[in-house]
Amino acid sequence: MRNDVRILLVGESGVGKTSVILSLISEEFPENVPAKAEEITIPADITPERVPTQIVDYSAQEQTNSELVEEIEKADVVCIVYSVENVDSIQKIPAFWIPLIHSLSKNVNKPIVLVGNKTDLLEISSMELIMPVMNMYAEIETCVECSAKTLKNISEVFYYAQKAVLHPTAPLYLLDEKQ
Ligand code: GTP
Repeated sequence: MRNDVRILLVGESGVGKTSVILSLISEEFPENVPAKAEEITIPADITPERVPTQIVDYSAQEQTNSELVEEIEKADVVCIVYSVENVDSIQKIPAFWIPLIHSLSKNVNKPIVLVGNKTDLLEISSMELIMPVMNMYAEIETCVECSAKTLKNISEVFYYAQKAVLHPTAPLYLLDEKQ
């Protein structure tokens, strides 16, 4: 059994990484967000898998490339956040983020969770765009569509990230199902 789980959020600037973290913590959408959220540890008894969980934000504005590399190396699972209405943020997943994570993984590939944020801005799912990316890499455990603004699937993002470390399985796709 592991003593803790360290979750790192990366992704293009403006996709909502800090907002997703702060929405989880405060259970409301933060209108004004800092460039980077402080690292937090969620105590074991309030996490679904009963394991202390560190949540780590990344900010290109505040951090250097070598700090990013160090954080990826320390993470047990990397959540690559994209915005469902920003195609560029999706294209950067196979073009930049996954190759970077691969280049730093020694023997086993680190689990990856894709997080499609800002579903409140889009009527349709980003599944068609993201499925080909999921199919390219076995270490992508899950794709979760969420909205920091409406809090939809926010706790699920962190549940699936924990689960990717504790109980790796076949890939899953969790949609933000529209009513
Ligand atoms: P960097 O610090 O530049 O890396 O950005 P970030 O990925 O941390 O994004 P941040 O949380 O700063 O959010 C960027 C902008 O998107 C802000 O104006 C947020 O209010 C907005 N935003 C974040 N999440 C959502 C969401 O779910 N829906 C909508 N509509 N806007 C969002």
